[in-house]
Amino acid sequence: MKNAPEADFLNMWTRIRRSGLQNELLIRAAKPERQRAAKGAEVVTATDVRLTAIDATAGFGEDAFLLAAAGYDVTMYERNPAVAAVLRDALSCAAAAEAAETAGRLKFGGAESGFRDVIARMHLVESDSTAAMQAMVTQVSRETSSDGDAGNEPKASADDSTMRIDVIYLDPMFPDAGKSALSKKKLQFIKEQQVSAADEEALLQAALALRPRKIIIKRPLKGPFLCGVTPGYSIKGKLIRYDCIVL
Ligand SMILES: C[S@@+](CC[C@H](N)C(=O)[O-])C[C@H]1O[C@@H](n2cnc3c(N)ncnc32)[C@H](O)[C@@H]1O
Repeated sequence: MKNAPEADFLNMWTRIRRSGLQNELLIRAAKPERQRAAKGAEVVTATDVRLTAIDATAGFGEDAFLLAAAGYDVTMYERNPAVAAVLRDALSCAAAAEAAETAGRLKFGGAESGFRDVIARMHLVESDSTAAMQAMVTQVSRETSSDGDAGNEPKASADDSTMRIDVIYLDPMFPDAGKSALSKKKLQFIKEQQVSAADEEALLQAALALRPRKIIIKRPLKGPFLCGVTPGYSIKGKLIRYDCIVL
């Protein structure tokens, strides 16, 4: 696509190999609460436990890549067809890259994960995440009530521990483009696609209704809470902040 920036996951892979995944603020925010509670536990990944995440505002998938590198199986929603096309290309390039073979393997707290494994954990859905999450809530409540009608135990509810999504990640457009962690080229590209975050309220409400274990919201360091909802805690960097709502 003309003038579209590339999403280069191999570059990101090199970066996190150098700096360490645990130094990424998002990964610290995504640490499961049981691990946060266990003092000294540094490991976020657990390949024996399948962690699931929804990235409801995928963009170029950079944050989703970090979550996948930490062991999360990430469903990425991107509603803008042009942005989704860039992300789809980047994923297929990464999956096919011969260079991936030589990209080495990483050890995160004993859990070993290769570049290709990370890419395989990223699933792109080109659609609106608000509508998708609302549909999931409807589906779960329909299954619950139809099982109840039949006199059986309900199969699933949004609070069912085996069904619960671990993380829903929200990164709507930054109010102040100058403070975005995205590169200027990427941010400019997104703006050119006229993506707006006017429906932030609906997005957050849909995420809350799905009852994940945690909602993580990326904000500018001094920006207001999304829709005024106070998080349980925040992980702060120099320019950005991750607000965590634990449910
Ligand atoms: C700031 S960017 C996200 C950047 C991303 N975190 C990354 O690492 O590349 C926001 C993106 O979310 C998308 N978006 C906003 N609301 C959405 C929704 N309800 N469903 C799907 N995509 C949405 C926009 O199209 C835009 O591409």
